[in-house]
Amino acid sequence: MPSAPSAIGIFDSGIGGLTVVKELVDLLPGEPLVYLGDTARVPYGNKSRETVVKFSTENVLFLLHHGVKMIVVACHTASSFALPFLTRHFSHPILGVIEPGVEAALAASRSGRIGVIGTQATVGSGAYPAAVSRRDPKARLTQAACPLFVHLAEEGWVDDAVTRQIARRYLAPLKQARVDALILGCTHYPLLKSVIGEVMGPRVALIDSARQVALKAQGVLKELGLTHPAHGGAFASRRFFVTDEPGHFERLSRRFLGRRAGNVSRVDVAKI
Ligand code: DGL
Repeated sequence: MPSAPSAIGIFDSGIGGLTVVKELVDLLPGEPLVYLGDTARVPYGNKSRETVVKFSTENVLFLLHHGVKMIVVACHTASSFALPFLTRHFSHPILGVIEPGVEAALAASRSGRIGVIGTQATVGSGAYPAAVSRRDPKARLTQAACPLFVHLAEEGWVDDAVTRQIARRYLAPLKQARVDALILGCTHYPLLKSVIGEVMGPRVALIDSARQVALKAQGVLKELGLTHPAHGGAFASRRFFVTDEPGHFERLSRRFLGRRAGNVSRVDVAKI
């Protein structure tokens, strides 16, 4: 049974989920966190549904083994492919990033024309169109895969002529569709927010799913009576696990988390 003093578990295919950790720390500073980045098997964004469901299940089992009270699937690809399976098979609260992003986009849009950008797998999964039509069957959704954005964010090319050129090309169909709310449907995209905003123009609301899922997690903890008793007070522990050597993750962590992640250990999730 989940208990309030336990940690929130978060998993991602790699490092990008630290954008969700950053928002959780900001919103819920007293909550202990356990993060798993599946760095040995990243990227998920070009893999099949079956593979992503298998990896995601192993990640959930690993986090449950660490006694977490709730799981946040920070990875959009994993949320798109695996969330229905995970919520069916596990009784702990498990939140994904798709629904909170869609809710915020529909609330922000005046025209009902919204856009989403993500990995090839996320766009191909049909998860966003399904979530939009469940909430507002009249809304029009335009999707675009932007696979190079992941690499540009990891390279730190967040304010670069090359990035601007690529963004103009990827975002052209969204501009053409005249969307007025755009969901950043991938863990890495919040890092490119200023270039994306520049290309889309000031009238388009950019929806950061990391912020939205952190808000959702805050609401669900409250609703279930699972908010940490020392909320806002005690120093909360944060542990980071990766499935490949931790050096690369530690070095890049500053870019995604705003500071270097300490306390990073290597694990083999397939052994749980
Ligand atoms: N974390 C992935 C996502 O949000 C991006 C990286 C990958 O392809 O694994 O979809």
